[in-house]
Amino acid sequence: MYETQRLIMSKLPAFEIIGSREGAVAIMEKARNAKGAAKEIMARHKNVKSVLMKAGPRKGKYRKRAYRIIAGSKNTEVVHAESGCRFLLDVRKAYFSPRESTERMRIAEKVKPGEKVAVFFAGVGPFAIVIAKKAKPAKVTGIELNPSAVKYFRKNATLNKVEDMVEIERGDVKKLATKYRGEFDRIIMPLPEKAKEFLNSAEKCAKKNALIHYYCFCREDEIKAEKAKIRNSIKRRINFLQVQKVLPWGPRIFKYRIDFRVY
Ligand SMILES: C[S@@+](CC[C@H](N)C(=O)[O-])C[C@H]1O[C@@H](n2cnc3c(N)ncnc32)[C@H](O)[C@@H]1O
Repeated sequence: MYETQRLIMSKLPAFEIIGSREGAVAIMEKARNAKGAAKEIMARHKNVKSVLMKAGPRKGKYRKRAYRIIAGSKNTEVVHAESGCRFLLDVRKAYFSPRESTERMRIAEKVKPGEKVAVFFAGVGPFAIVIAKKAKPAKVTGIELNPSAVKYFRKNATLNKVEDMVEIERGDVKKLATKYRGEFDRIIMPLPEKAKEFLNSAEKCAKKNALIHYYCFCREDEIKAEKAKIRNSIKRRINFLQVQKVLPWGPRIFKYRIDFRVY
């Protein structure tokens, strides 16, 4: 299986590859000699069919980024291989980060047989599908707003033969929470910029003793304040269990996961 790589080489800008042996896109940071760098990336990685350059930060409610196609095919749809799963996706239409594969496996390893799991902000379905494939949940419900991401999520459930176990909802978590009142044993909240705005929705959907995996961006010395925000937003009694440093995000800033139980 071809694993995503992130290489920093002399002369070349930092880049990552999303896809598989059958076809991939390379995404590089802004560079002066973009065409030369793209040519070299394609010469070194024969599976790379398009080279994109980041053209701005992630933004908007769908957390998408603008890219410039520097070389290769204008069709940037690929199948990405991860943890024995395959994800069809187009980075220009929906959020996807191969850097989060370790975190997806960490969560899948926590899921107990028979659990009802919710993945808020489900994207093209990587958390839901890795959980459905690697654990033995009763059901995984993924909720996602971006119609393009939902289209890929549905295809990915079929591609990975988990369509019976995975329920896909297109819509806003805040609106759908009422439909799932008291339904879930575990809720995953992978929208670090805004997860705190959805804590009430998580509380609504949580069974007694449910586990919530909450993500945020902060410095290590801000974890206490993040916990206080959670405690102030949730009306039921809660108990903090674990804080996981997920990925570096900026100078002294990390993506953290804060796990807590709701009683
Ligand atoms: C940071 S991405 C995470 C995607 C996915 N979980 C993954 O790991 O690849 C956040 C996703 O949340 C979706 N989103 C943002 N606001 C939402 C809302 N109110 N309800 C449902 N989905 C939302 C965005 O469209 C985006 O796909």
